[in-house]
Amino acid sequence: MSRLKNRRDFLCSIGAGAGCVALAAQAGASLRSLVPNVSYDAPTTVKLGAPSEFPDGLKFLPDQRLFVFRDGNVFHAISAVCTHLGCTVRAEALPQPEHRTVEGATLRMTHRFQCPCHGSKYTGDGGNVSGPAPRPLAWFHLEVAPDDGQLVVDLAREVGRDFRLTVPLGERV
Ligand code: FES
Repeated sequence: MSRLKNRRDFLCSIGAGAGCVALAAQAGASLRSLVPNVSYDAPTTVKLGAPSEFPDGLKFLPDQRLFVFRDGNVFHAISAVCTHLGCTVRAEALPQPEHRTVEGATLRMTHRFQCPCHGSKYTGDGGNVSGPAPRPLAWFHLEVAPDDGQLVVDLAREVGRDFRLTVPLGERV
């Protein structure tokens, strides 16, 4: 009789354990179903076109709110998003290009920036010089896509103002 009871207890505990495991698996699956498999965030890396499509000087890309500058085969990208409240700044051509050393690297500046919302002004390297803007305009990382040679910006990767992308001559520049 005692053997029978032990066996019944044993089988009951196995059944209860299996039930607990099944419940835990079901709860995990339910929680997982609340998390989407797809990210609906905008991608942070964007292909901008072949380097040859960029004129010497500046090209404004409204979709990315980005200025891409070209000096020969050297490129850099500056955000057009004002650091005050996020309006899109406008570029004004300088009467003459200026050469300055910025963070140890030479920069040819062809434009400066002004915000139409509250009048903040920025130098050609994005430095905030007047108005309520609290910070310089962001610079973003550029690279050449290995598959098709297009310029690629990473809008989540800020870089210093000494950043330059040199595209090797002969690579569709
Ligand atoms: S949003 Fe640019 S100065 Fe206010």
